[in-house]
Amino acid sequence: MKQLRLSLLGFGTVGRWLAEALHLRQAWLQQELDVVMTIVSVATAHHGFIYRGDGLDIPTLLELADTRQPLTAHPGVTHWANILEGLQATGGDVLAEATGATLRSGEPGLSYIRAALAHGMHVVTSSKGPMALAGSDLLSLARAQAVQLRMESTVMSGTPVLSTIREGMAGTNIRAIRGVLNGTVNSILSAMALGRTYAEALAEAQALGYAESDPTDDVEGDDAVAKTLILATVSFGRALTPEQVVRSGITTLTREQMQQALDQGKCIKHVSSLRLLSADGTEVSRATANSGSIPTRLEARVEPQALPLSDPLARIDGLLNAIVIQTDTPAEVTVIGPGAGRFQAGQGMLADLIAIAKSR
Ligand SMILES: NC(=O)c1ccc[n+]([C@@H]2O[C@H](COP(=O)([O-])OP(=O)(O)OC[C@H]3O[C@@H](n4cnc5c(N)ncnc54)[C@H](OP(=O)(O)O)[C@@H]3O)[C@@H](O)[C@H]2O)c1
Repeated sequence: MKQLRLSLLGFGTVGRWLAEALHLRQAWLQQELDVVMTIVSVATAHHGFIYRGDGLDIPTLLELADTRQPLTAHPGVTHWANILEGLQATGGDVLAEATGATLRSGEPGLSYIRAALAHGMHVVTSSKGPMALAGSDLLSLARAQAVQLRMESTVMSGTPVLSTIREGMAGTNIRAIRGVLNGTVNSILSAMALGRTYAEALAEAQALGYAESDPTDDVEGDDAVAKTLILATVSFGRALTPEQVVRSGITTLTREQMQQALDQGKCIKHVSSLRLLSADGTEVSRATANSGSIPTRLEARVEPQALPLSDPLARIDGLLNAIVIQTDTPAEVTVIGPGAGRFQAGQGMLADLIAIAKSR
């Protein structure tokens, strides 16, 4: 039986779902994959880092969290107030990182992921910030350390987009990617297509809990830019900065513009796009770009676009997300699914953990 010792940083919505899922699937993991996954350490901002070498009891952890008791009340644990020190002192086979990393600095996730990779641990993360700002460097570090860094939940949550690109479509030449990658923005635009103003649609989304009280990261495109940067790294092997993404949000869109598009048989969507271009602006494949025969640049954009109704992205409504991957073979693949939610994010991390377990 293979053993996989996990360090789980972040025990909020996603971290707790993942812990519970591991507990519920324990027997299945052993029978089907011949692996025992044990959580040996957990950390949160308020409670620091706890560790027990023979594994933490998941129901006890969940009970402590649900009843707002300190995780240090778990029997037999060693505690570090400084999470990095705890992680470096104890290690494990895999870091499962689910802290609330910011899109501006990538912290705290970025430091944790770097430390774990440097320690020779595999990493799965649901945090966009670190992967958007330093994905290329982190993947290089993972390669140098001969470990895996997986991040399925960072784009379209647990809907399998990155594994589709990395594994399912391995060997294809990607020409371009287009996506509707933010459910909050898409639900606002769907409501505007039904006649609401931007302010009315935002207020509705906030009342339903789809939009934050400060919706800036969503409606100004920061969240979609972060996902676009991750896709640039994973799909094209190119590290772009946020400033290199041509970006415009949805806050100035009017009901009249939405109606005008509909009158023309179109629908306005907030589209993230990536495509390889030659110097004269012609689209080229990744294989041509990689051959180095001609200089190419990766164009990245996040902006409202009026799409014909025949476009698969035009038919994605509400909280759904979708991505269209254009390649040489097969010509075009579309993946549609939920782009948020604790089940989805946790499921993406679980799938990443299982991929690591299978490869060991
Ligand atoms: N929820 C979703 O639907 C979803 C979907 C896709 C991706 N994600 C991403 O997944 C990550 C986790 O999301 P979430 O919804 O689980 O967030 P959350 O409920 O706010 O939980 C965040 C957890 O991280 C801990 N934390 C915060 N700062 C920390 C620090 N400096 N060191 C160690 N732990 C720290 C928090 O500790 P305390 O409990 O002590 O505050 C909490 O346990 C985020 O990056 C999010 O963007 C979430």
